[in-house]
Amino acid sequence: MKNKVYIANPIPKYVEEYIGKYCEYQIWNGDSKITRDKLLENVKDVDGLIVFGHKIDEELLSVAPKLKVVSNLSVGYDNFNIEEMKKRGVVGTNTPYVLDDTVADLIFALILSTSRRVVELDKYVRQGKWKKDIERTHFGLDVHGATLGIIGMGNIGEAIATRGKFGFGMDILYHNRTRKPQAEKELGAKYCSLEEVLRKSDFIVLMTPLTEDTKELIGYKEFDMMKDTAIFINGSRGQTVNEEALINALNNKKIFGAGLDVFYKEPVDVNNPLLKMDNVVVLPHIGSATGKTRDEMAMLAAENMVKALKGEMPPTMVKEFKKE
Ligand code: DGY
Repeated sequence: MKNKVYIANPIPKYVEEYIGKYCEYQIWNGDSKITRDKLLENVKDVDGLIVFGHKIDEELLSVAPKLKVVSNLSVGYDNFNIEEMKKRGVVGTNTPYVLDDTVADLIFALILSTSRRVVELDKYVRQGKWKKDIERTHFGLDVHGATLGIIGMGNIGEAIATRGKFGFGMDILYHNRTRKPQAEKELGAKYCSLEEVLRKSDFIVLMTPLTEDTKELIGYKEFDMMKDTAIFINGSRGQTVNEEALINALNNKKIFGAGLDVFYKEPVDVNNPLLKMDNVVVLPHIGSATGKTRDEMAMLAAENMVKALKGEMPPTMVKEFKKE
């Protein structure tokens, strides 16, 4: 008998067909995101679940007693209650590697658009304000030759550092749980304390995963340490930053600007003050959102699911679930 799988987010047809070869499956094809209630209803009888961002917590696990695998359609897995999943013998997988360059490209889009004020000045032109040469008050900051500080030097962090070093001649500082000897050798990346990265960088890019330790890692104290010309970029998760402290830093010109792909609450509230600020570029969590990369992520998530249900090692199991 085939294992039963529920796919809570749309995936390409060919990936569905691949899953169909090995599993009996149902897929959410509604116009909007599946509601929590519908998800809980649809996982009751399943062995496997493919999700993007849905909380895998005690409540969900207790209504899905047969569940063995949760395959995330993302590299981040802060939606997993790891202890609870382990207690119940459920393993979790994610989609690293295939999205590294796509996310790194997007981080550079944020670096360039914030420093050269691309969105703000695009509006200026469209609104018919370009009547004479622009004033000094519209000038931006250079990216080439600047210091790029990366907090969270995983694969994506390294892909960002590579672009910074070889594309823009930037000096690379980084803070991470572990040293990265290869990045130090090949990119001249300098390992620093968090404080040193915050104080010395022109661009501070936050890429750390969201965990108990990194929740609100960047708050009032940390923004105070930054240069008043610094640009803060968040490509990790919104909750790694105290959003009030970020708003305060931007309002009081403690930093030059911010580029945000993620927010404390997503989708972001339209009344969030960050959306009213000219020196902030905002995006709807699109780090990995190109067709090619999202398709590759879906295929990897499917392979993870199929392998794990066969009792084989999935290609990218989350490290916390690996046996010592
Ligand atoms: C991830 O995969 O965790 C990214 O944030 C999605 O864009």
